Amino acid sequence: MLIDVITIFPEMLQQALEYGVLRRALELGVVQITAHDLRDYTTDRHRKVDDYPYGGGAGMVLKPEPLFRAIQALSSDESRVILLTPQGERLTQERVERFSLEEHLILVCGRYKGIDERIREHQIHDEVSIGDYVLSGGELPALVLIDAVVRVLPGAIGDYDSAQDDSFSSGLLDAPHYTRPAVFRSWEVPPVLLSGDHARIARWQRKQSLKRTIERRSDLLEAADLSEEDLQYLNLLQESNYESD
Ligand code: 6GU
Repeated sequence: MLIDVITIFPEMLQQALEYGVLRRALELGVVQITAHDLRDYTTDRHRKVDDYPYGGGAGMVLKPEPLFRAIQALSSDESRVILLTPQGERLTQERVERFSLEEHLILVCGRYKGIDERIREHQIHDEVSIGDYVLSGGELPALVLIDAVVRVLPGAIGDYDSAQDDSFSSGLLDAPHYTRPAVFRSWEVPPVLLSGDHARIARWQRKQSLKRTIERRSDLLEAADLSEEDLQYLNLLQESNYESD
């Protein structure tokens, strides 16, 4: 996969790509990521990328010409051009997986007041927000999208099962995890996890996932793929006011 990012802070992106799964995926050639400085697509002496909004008001708007030139220079028929903006549709694991099937993503990082509407209308395929809060620019959201997309690409995570096990891939929150020691400051690991009985452990983990999901994110249960046994357990939980384990 190819990812091009158009930003006024290319170094901010470049730096974040040097760690963990992203670094490894880049080294392995699973993905190629390039941050492009929007100022390189200006033609004026001051390399001006923004201007005051027509109609007045606070904040600046990214000018159309440099954005247009950048998108033209980087895109082909195979490119998906995504604008990061708080006005966008919420990023979900489902959208992440859809984006991961693309050959080429172009991420356009907006600034606080946004970009000239004509670019949005004519050059942008998707608008994405990462949540209901306001950030000063699209760079951190672009990194969030990149991390989420790259880690589901085949070959990016050594342990493929690990991505399959994720919260949300199953539609439920993850069960709790423990590692050694079995007792830490008198706090014990649930004995079932030490039992070696894999079927029993899997049932326990499924219940923990269900319990967490109904307690913290009951909205997720509507879309989750639930068995008869799952539904029975959820009913039991509700009847016992979540005291059951
Ligand atoms: Cl994509 N951009 C900005 N500026 N703020 C956000 C966002 C994006 N998603 C959530 N807040």
